[in-house]
Amino acid sequence: MKDTSILARRLMEGGSHLQAQNGEEGNKAIKRRSFLNYWLGVSLATFGGFSAYALARYLFPPGLAGAEAAGEDVRIMLSELPVGTAKVFRYKGEPSVAVRTGEKAVRVLSAVCPHLGCIVKWDSGKSLLVCPCHAAVFDVNGNVVSGPAPRPLASYPARIVQDEVIVGET
Ligand code: FES
Repeated sequence: MKDTSILARRLMEGGSHLQAQNGEEGNKAIKRRSFLNYWLGVSLATFGGFSAYALARYLFPPGLAGAEAAGEDVRIMLSELPVGTAKVFRYKGEPSVAVRTGEKAVRVLSAVCPHLGCIVKWDSGKSLLVCPCHAAVFDVNGNVVSGPAPRPLASYPARIVQDEVIVGET
């Protein structure tokens, strides 16, 4: 009888030792899972942040050169705008695009798509302005060729004088 009670006590002690071991391993597993969840969250947040930033930079290019104040002329060197190319800049506080259509010809339009306000891109292969958001397409005069844009791109006065394009009314 005495032997049985000693055996039972040892078994219980062993059981509680095993429970303690299981508890420690459980805690370790929970800590490991929490750590992995934390880093997974951090990684996803970082990736999401970078993706949103890259998309915003693509759709709304920052640091556009040009006049910020209304009524101020903008000058673009012809060397920065070879024939068949376009340059996005800021005019009257708005993103605008100059398209060099010939040796002595340039068109300047608003670069803001009249559909939902994305910035249009120049497709030099097709000589068209294309909106990356919903695929509105405009010709070099700003007229809608296709897509959801409800009206043409606004046009601004521009002329070539010597070696530069002057955008503005003065
Ligand atoms: S914002 Fe340009 S097509 Fe929708």
